Amino acid sequence: MNIDSKRVLITGGAGFIGSNFVLRTLERYPHAKLYNVDKLTYAANPRGMERAECSGRYQLIRADIAHGETMRTLFERIEPELIIHFAAESHVDRSILGPAEFIRTNIEGTFQLLEAARALHTASKPIHFHHISTDEVYGSLPLDEGAFTESTAYDPSSPYSASKAASDHLVRAYYRTYGLPITITNCTNNYGPRQFPEKLVPLMILSALEERSLPIYGEGKNVRDWLYVDDHIEAIWAAIERGRVGETYGIGGGEEKNNLEVVECIAQIVAAEADMDAEAILARRVFIRDRPGHDLRYAIDPQKARDELGWTPRESFESGMRKTVRYILENRALYDSIRSGEYRQWIAKNYTKRGGEAA
Ligand code: NAD
Ligand code: DAU
Repeated sequence: MNIDSKRVLITGGAGFIGSNFVLRTLERYPHAKLYNVDKLTYAANPRGMERAECSGRYQLIRADIAHGETMRTLFERIEPELIIHFAAESHVDRSILGPAEFIRTNIEGTFQLLEAARALHTASKPIHFHHISTDEVYGSLPLDEGAFTESTAYDPSSPYSASKAASDHLVRAYYRTYGLPITITNCTNNYGPRQFPEKLVPLMILSALEERSLPIYGEGKNVRDWLYVDDHIEAIWAAIERGRVGETYGIGGGEEKNNLEVVECIAQIVAAEADMDAEAILARRVFIRDRPGHDLRYAIDPQKARDELGWTPRESFESGMRKTVRYILENRALYDSIRSGEYRQWIAKNYTKRGGEAA
């Protein structure tokens, strides 16, 4: 499917990956119209998206995807030709502390979007549904061997990954049962500009810059397969444009690092970019209680995406991390407003609430 000139309904486009996706897509596809349906939870930050607002081809609609009636009405009004579904509760630790919102948004929300799409989809006016998912649905790998492929059995460990697994199954079921055209991408750990600073990478960069302690779960030996956010965006475009309907594509950066290595790399880059001492940063590492059910290792074998979509990542871990550190250094005010909570007041003032949004 050609994305340009389409009416595209994006969910979660004010979050980390979604907001980068909106900004890049408006540049790359000069005729696409983007409608961003986002509840603007704690993780959203529509600040810094002025370029999108000024384009005349972008609209942010504050709404809850789990509110079925609101979704049906919105779909009837917008008549989307393509849906790209990012919206989710995305942080594993929060899902351990309080899983209910994950079930509601990630499962019920995906279900309501699928229902709204099914009600409008016809052979003459088709709607394509692209679902953004995660490698966490496959569970954990041993330290030294193997990688997930599209045929690996699902085995999620956390309430977050279980809710994403359920959403993947629903999306595939709507293709098999109702013929709704779908594609799915299951991606590894992203990092880059605009990521909410509860996640490992921005948390460590900000802690290093502010001379605070760097909390590492357990022994720091857990491995993740890191991908710079722009490379994920390229993979999503490729899956929508060149992917086969009904198929799933695993997207991975091939940059496996354990958490100690991630923190080491961040310390070196922060030291170089901000004129600090890397050893002093590393001396502030503290090893804290491990995450319950902490998956040991994730890695995706991206061969299918390479072969069928012609996709490969451009950034190395080192080059992507340097860009990320520089972005944070140049946008300290944005991160300060997130952490002080001041950005929530700004959202309340600038965006009205629609159906299903709690006060
Ligand atoms: P994020 O937490 O930064 O952003 C999520 C966005 O969804 C926010 O803007 C939030 O307001 C919105 N949202 C949450 N609940 C909503 C609801 N009920 N209705 C409407 N909007 C709602 O997440 P992210 O890291 O950008 O992840 C985006 C997607 O990519 C998620 O589906 C996630 O599972 C998937 N993913 C993330 C990664 C990663 O490393 N971050 C890797 C693979 C897949
Ligand atoms: O694999 C894709 C997934 O990556 C996405 O589906 C999730 O939405 C995304 O949050 C991410 O999940 P992780 O749990 O892997 O990311 P997080 O940044 O929370 O943690 C990365 C690793 O760092 C993990 O092993 C836990 C560890 N960690 C994390 C934090 C926040 C620490 O050691 N200390 C910390 O303070």
